[in-house]
Amino acid sequence: MSHRVVVGISGGIAAFKSAALVSRLAQRGLDVSVVMTEAAEQFIGAATFSALCNRAPVINAFDSRYPLGPHIELATDCKLFIVAPATAHIIASCAFGLADCLLSTLYLNMECPIVFAPAMSTPMWEKPAVARNVDQLKADGVRIVGPDSGWLSCRRMGAGRMSEPEAILSACEPFLV
Ligand SMILES: Cc1cc2nc3c(=O)[nH]c(=O)nc-3n(C[C@H](O)[C@H](O)[C@H](O)COP(=O)(O)O)c2cc1C
Repeated sequence: MSHRVVVGISGGIAAFKSAALVSRLAQRGLDVSVVMTEAAEQFIGAATFSALCNRAPVINAFDSRYPLGPHIELATDCKLFIVAPATAHIIASCAFGLADCLLSTLYLNMECPIVFAPAMSTPMWEKPAVARNVDQLKADGVRIVGPDSGWLSCRRMGAGRMSEPEAILSACEPFLV
């Protein structure tokens, strides 16, 4: 039985919380690989995930460590795929089936359970276009965790805050046994 879990990090401020999530998964003895979008690099350093996973995150779709392509090799024998934070952009790409970056291409290759933890401002979260894309992901079998309401980095209270790592882990628990 595979112990591989892939965590996708897209470009939102909540990416800093994903370090705690990745650490918890690694502490459970899981084989954790991190895939970061280019925007995610603006929010958290690759070195953090290199250390937490004992493996450098994958950012480049043509990473030479994966001759078949990371979108293929990371999906093989993967037991769980988590995207946290899931930006409005990555949610839209995945809902539409766009393979326009490594993370959305990997999404299309995944055959395991998939959990998304959206994070964005309240106006973005409440936009009908975002709601449609989230509904599409749900219809496609993706588990959506959160978002919570609370303090947002745009300095207001409201819906859109990424769920805490513990809550994301709880939602993932059925797939980690
Ligand atoms: C300071 C800052 C914070 C951002 N936070 C978010 C966020 O929480 N959620 C979101 O959907 N987009 C956020 N964005 C916009 C995304 O970074 C942008 O849409 C980007 O293209 C997402 O790319 P990705 O989905 O490929 O990572 C933020 C942008 C900036 C400059």
